[in-house]
Amino acid sequence: MKHIIANFKSNKNRVEIEEWLHSFSSQLSTFNFQLSTEIVLCPPLPHLSLFSDLSSQPHISLGVQDLSPFPAGAYTGAVGAHNLSDSGVRYAIVGHSERRKYFHETNQEVANKVRECLANSITPILCVTREEVIAQAGALSDVEKSGVMVAFEPVEHIGTGTSDALDNILETKEQVTRAFGSVPYIYGGSVNPQTDISILQSPAIDGFLVGTACLDPNQFSKLLTTF
Ligand code: PGA
Repeated sequence: MKHIIANFKSNKNRVEIEEWLHSFSSQLSTFNFQLSTEIVLCPPLPHLSLFSDLSSQPHISLGVQDLSPFPAGAYTGAVGAHNLSDSGVRYAIVGHSERRKYFHETNQEVANKVRECLANSITPILCVTREEVIAQAGALSDVEKSGVMVAFEPVEHIGTGTSDALDNILETKEQVTRAFGSVPYIYGGSVNPQTDISILQSPAIDGFLVGTACLDPNQFSKLLTTF
């Protein structure tokens, strides 16, 4: 299974999302997807409902970019896994480096988010740098570890236009497998239609987290044709 995860980050207002949807939807029927390809769209939270038609199509699922580490209850302003549990959301990105950097998230908070996801049937896409693999795994139980997808996200390659080398991505996979067991392994960091085909088509990589290149529906569609 290849998961192609589109992370819109804090980009686009409602009108811009509607334009994106219009353009992307018109190209969708031209794709010749492998049966095992899944596109996970993670728009800004206020626009989630605009994706309901698209996400009812085969090969397309909905995700969120983050969620609360707390259960349902008195946590003003926080959107938790329970709030999302009947909204069609199947995935949640947790522990993205931008959350760790700008919102000071710790491994323990990220572990709490994983726990909330799993308790509400949402699959966590757990982002780590190479340096975080062991400590992040240490904050989770064996059962929790077995329920995540791990996304290797080298910060020095995020938003730069140049992805990491295949060797490095595969070496990190070995580390992830030692720490987490055999879980789906995702790579993120400047994945775009120009990314080395040996990376995009590597059978050892179960998917890609795509930031910048998902914002333009033409670029994103072009990328999707490589799978
Ligand atoms: P990028 O972002 O594709 O713009 O490098 C990837 C990410 O932050 O996951």
